[in-house]
Amino acid sequence: TRIDKAGHKHFMAKEIAEQPAVIGTAIGKYLSPQGDIELSDQDIDFNDFDRIIMVACGTASYACLTAKYWFEQIARLPVEVDVASEFRYREPPIPPRTLAVFVSQSGETADTLAALRYCEGKAARILSVVNVPESSIARESDIALLIHAGVEVGVASTKAFTCQLVVLYMMVLKAARARGTLDAEALADHIFGLRGLPATISHALEKNDTMHAAALKLSHARDVLFLGRGQMYPLALEGALKLKEISYIHAEAYASGELKHGPIALIDENVPVVVMAPRDALFDKTVSNMQEVMARKGKVILISDAKGQAEANDGVWFSIEMPPVPDALAPILYAIPAQLLAYHTAVAKGTDVDQPRNLAKSVTVE
Ligand code: G6P
Repeated sequence: TRIDKAGHKHFMAKEIAEQPAVIGTAIGKYLSPQGDIELSDQDIDFNDFDRIIMVACGTASYACLTAKYWFEQIARLPVEVDVASEFRYREPPIPPRTLAVFVSQSGETADTLAALRYCEGKAARILSVVNVPESSIARESDIALLIHAGVEVGVASTKAFTCQLVVLYMMVLKAARARGTLDAEALADHIFGLRGLPATISHALEKNDTMHAAALKLSHARDVLFLGRGQMYPLALEGALKLKEISYIHAEAYASGELKHGPIALIDENVPVVVMAPRDALFDKTVSNMQEVMARKGKVILISDAKGQAEANDGVWFSIEMPPVPDALAPILYAIPAQLLAYHTAVAKGTDVDQPRNLAKSVTVE
C-alpha cells in the first residue's frame, strides 16, 4: 500500500498526529481486556535475569535510557545502556543471567545489529524491540517484540519512539510483577494509566498552537539548552536531538543537576532553555535549577502540568501546559512537545523536515 501524507504538510506531522492511534494499537497487542500483559508466546521469565543491557542508536537509545529509569525503579532490575557504536567495540564482558535488549525502528541499523551479534552465545536471552517484523534484528533475536507503529517515513523518529516506550513500559510492568516489586493493586494503577494514555496524548496534541508559538521564539536562537531530571533527562536528550536534526539549531541536553558543572556558563539572554518538568518528586529540584537559569537572564520555556505551572511560572519566558498524567508515563507524554517544538521550528526555518540534510532514515552501513 502506498503511504501518503493524509492531508498533512509533512510525513512527520502525520506521524506525530497518528500517535494516539498507534499507541492504542501497541497497548492492545500486549494487554488483554482483563489487564494481563502477554509479551510473547515464548515465555520470558524475568527471574532468569540479574541484569539487562540495552543497546541502540539515536532516538531508540533514548527510549532505552528512559526504560532504564523504569526498570530500576519499578522492577529493581539493574540496567546498563549504551549506544551501539560504542558497545560493539568496547566488547564488554556479558555476565551470565544477562538479558540483552536491542531497540531499533528499522531493525537494520548496522551498529545495533553488530552489537546484537556480539551478544550471541554470551547473553542468556536476546530480545529486540522493533518496528519492522522481517528485519535482520528481529530475525536474529530470540524474541522480537513489535511496536506496531506502522510505516515511519520521516527521517526523524516520532511515533516509533513513543511506541518503543509503550512496549518497554509493559516489559517493565511484567518484570516487576514477576520479581515481586509491584503488587496487584499497584499494577492495576499502572495499567489504568496506560489505558488512558492515548487520550492524554490527544490532549497534548491539542496544544499544537501553543507549541507553534514557542517554536517561533526558538527559531531565532543559535543555541538551545534542554533540561530534565530523572526519567525526564532522556526526554531532554530527545528534545535536543529532534531540534538539531530537523531545524539545524545547535541544541544540547543536560541533566538539570549537571547545570552548575559547566553549561550554566553558556547562559545569557540569547539562550533559550527548555525545561521538562512535570510536577513529580524531583520537581522542586528542577525548578531551583531553572531559577538559576533565570537569575542569569536565561529565557526559560517551561513544559509542565497545571500544578507545576501554578507553583513555578513566575518569570518564565513561555509556558506550555501538559495534561496531568501518572508520574511514570510522563516521558511518553512529554515526547509530544519535544517533537512539536522541533517540527514547528524547522517549518519556520524552511528546512526539509522529512529529509533533513546529511541524515538517513536507516543507517545500514557503519
Ligand atoms: C537514524 C535515524 C534516527 C534513528 C536512528 C536509529 O539516525 O535518522 O531517527 O533514531 O537511525 O535507527 P533505528 O532504525 O535503529 O531505530
